[in-house]
Amino acid sequence: VAEFVPVQELGKSLKEVPKNYIAPEDKIPVVNEPGKSVPVVDLCDFDLSPEQHERVVHEIATASSEWGFFQVINHGIDVAKPQKASRDFFELPKEEKLKYAAKEYGFKSDGYGSKISNADDAVQLWRDFLFLCTSPKRNLDNWPAQPPEYKEAMSGLADDFLMLAKKVLGFLSEGVGLPTDYFEKCFGIPNQSILTNYYPGCPEPDKVLGFMPHSDFGGLTLLLQDGVPGLQVLKNNTWVVVEPIPGAITINISDLLELMSNGRYRSVIHRVQVNASRPRMSIACNYSCSFDSGVAPAPELIDEEHPQLYKPVKFGDYVQEVVKKGPTGKSYMLINH
Ligand code: SIN
Ligand code: FE2
Repeated sequence: VAEFVPVQELGKSLKEVPKNYIAPEDKIPVVNEPGKSVPVVDLCDFDLSPEQHERVVHEIATASSEWGFFQVINHGIDVAKPQKASRDFFELPKEEKLKYAAKEYGFKSDGYGSKISNADDAVQLWRDFLFLCTSPKRNLDNWPAQPPEYKEAMSGLADDFLMLAKKVLGFLSEGVGLPTDYFEKCFGIPNQSILTNYYPGCPEPDKVLGFMPHSDFGGLTLLLQDGVPGLQVLKNNTWVVVEPIPGAITINISDLLELMSNGRYRSVIHRVQVNASRPRMSIACNYSCSFDSGVAPAPELIDEEHPQLYKPVKFGDYVQEVVKKGPTGKSYMLINH
């Protein structure tokens, strides 16, 4: 794995994209109208009156069942520092970045890479990435030493994201009538990772994908977009562009939470398109449980009106399935599969 050609290097020299990057054609229309995108929730820096608290719970729960996605503003987290440090990393010379080349695939080891699968016939994404394991353990020795502020900025973001994820899990628990700490307890000691995606400008942007359509396999995903659009969410069989709002954090329900909530909250398919000239960067943080824990639908959310939709799974087995089949594994958990 150590030697690979970053897409960032390909993007510099080519006029046409190599064949193995050409994505299957997709006829689903794209909607890009300001105001017609995923709901935006104002967290008021967590200085919430009881009425505002109720509003936040309601808005987050509704967005999570109708869209599977929402954005939060006034969340109190400094996003500028980690964004700058990450961009500075990707702008380093190739040789410096390759010092951190990922040793293996499969969401378990830190490092810089490009391929999403080892299969020779897999369509390659127009994307390079840097993956960091951030909870329960952080091995800062493996993290980039350049730029000098990188480790501190990303470690700080990981801490902030752990706190925000727990608060959001509280709102989500209340939103289905469960005690505030319900979902947080289901996850136990969190398994958290940060995946920074760098999508270079592409000579033929319509032929490739930055990320193929997928749902996220973890519990909850927190995401920073830069100012460049690219992320699209599937809604009523159209792709809806998630508007980049400066400083906002995009949050989406991922597979484990769909399962735990017995389908009340939905883990929705999304993808990433790339641009001709402007690179785009996103920082995605996955909050889930340890690989050896089992997850099951909340018994409180199963009744005659709401039959059990999913089988209990061991998270590690589920991740294996996702790595093997590509990130489309959700159906594997459905009880009637
Ligand atoms: C992802 O789906 O993990 C990437 C999202 C993005 O780049 O906006
Ligand atoms: Fe995703």
